[in-house]
Amino acid sequence: MPGLFDTFTLKDVTLRNRIVVSPMCQYMSVEGVANDWHKVHYTSLARGGAGLVILEATAVSPEGRISWGDAGLWNDEQAAALEPIIKAIKEWGAVPGLQIAHAGRKASANRPWEGDDHIPEGQPNSWETIAPSAVPFGANLPRVPREMSLEEIARVQADTVKSVERARDLGFEWLQMHFAHGYLAQNFWSPLSNKRTDQYGGSAENRGRYALETLAAVRKVWPENRPLAVRFSVVEFDGNDEQRLTESIELLKKMKQAGLDTVDVSIGFNTPDAQIPWGPNFLGEIASRVLRETGLPGTTSWYIDGPKGADTLIREGKIDFATIGRPFLANPHWPYFAAKELGVENPAWKTLPSAYAHWLSRYR
Ligand SMILES: Cc1cc2nc3c(=O)[nH]c(=O)nc-3n(C[C@H](O)[C@H](O)[C@H](O)COP(=O)(O)O)c2cc1C
Repeated sequence: MPGLFDTFTLKDVTLRNRIVVSPMCQYMSVEGVANDWHKVHYTSLARGGAGLVILEATAVSPEGRISWGDAGLWNDEQAAALEPIIKAIKEWGAVPGLQIAHAGRKASANRPWEGDDHIPEGQPNSWETIAPSAVPFGANLPRVPREMSLEEIARVQADTVKSVERARDLGFEWLQMHFAHGYLAQNFWSPLSNKRTDQYGGSAENRGRYALETLAAVRKVWPENRPLAVRFSVVEFDGNDEQRLTESIELLKKMKQAGLDTVDVSIGFNTPDAQIPWGPNFLGEIASRVLRETGLPGTTSWYIDGPKGADTLIREGKIDFATIGRPFLANPHWPYFAAKELGVENPAWKTLPSAYAHWLSRYR
């Protein structure tokens, strides 16, 4: 079995290792436009040796942002600002990926370090939230969303396709649809947030319709030779885990038929009452089951237990590549230190510039 530092190929894209930078919102955009912060941040992650750098949740429309600082890709200015970032990621040998998102009922919130709570209607940086049903998340996000009409569902799907076309034309090589974490697609998928009685609500087939239709529409414009991924929440830890899991696996199989290439197995975050069993590698077995039963290659994240934990999950065949989040915020050169820890002849080393590499080779 391969390990963390072996290459991984999917469609026409080859990652130099199996270390993926998980999408992480920076909440530093203005009107959805990236700036120097993003350029430095993403360049350093690529230079640090990751195989794939997936840019943060990027909204398809203004109301699809979690906060006013979120990234967006609904206009030319936003697209132009991403160009140098993509170029830099490629120059440093990583594959540039993008996560496309709509925040649904969790939109219109303060940035996390400014409260992470809903901004009341009528106040600056606040906007109307939309979702499949007029059911609020609760806790710090109490705003009641407006139930989407059928026309509005079609409009958001069209917005999504337009953003994906922009991502394609910009040269992103890996696209991840954000169908997780209590945002719009998952608001449809979860019976906790979807109370509709039309073709988008009720049965698992109906609740999955929004995600499946959106994915199929995206596949039509996203090049066949570039990987199409979803981040999908297969469990909510709400007491109905087995049902959620089996239904999710069935939906993922349908997405695979519609052109899905890979999945990042994740958690719901769709109810404040979830009892999540946090711990090292705690999603490993669940991810392994999802990948086995769907036949999709894929990954998971959340508290992957350091380089050894990541390498073990891959060598045991439980996941194909490891998706790492906060450790990269702590250390953009995580792959370099991972290779040292694993005693690997370090391919990431070559990606570090001499100005660093020269000194690090003499450093413990
Ligand atoms: C600052 C921050 C922003 C995040 N933003 C996103 C995001 O845009 N999209 C997403 O799917 N997950 C997001 N996440 C979750 C991460 O992608 C990742 O799954 C999570 O941090 C768990 O991995 P870790 O334990 O290695 O940090 C974010 C996490 C953090 C810490």
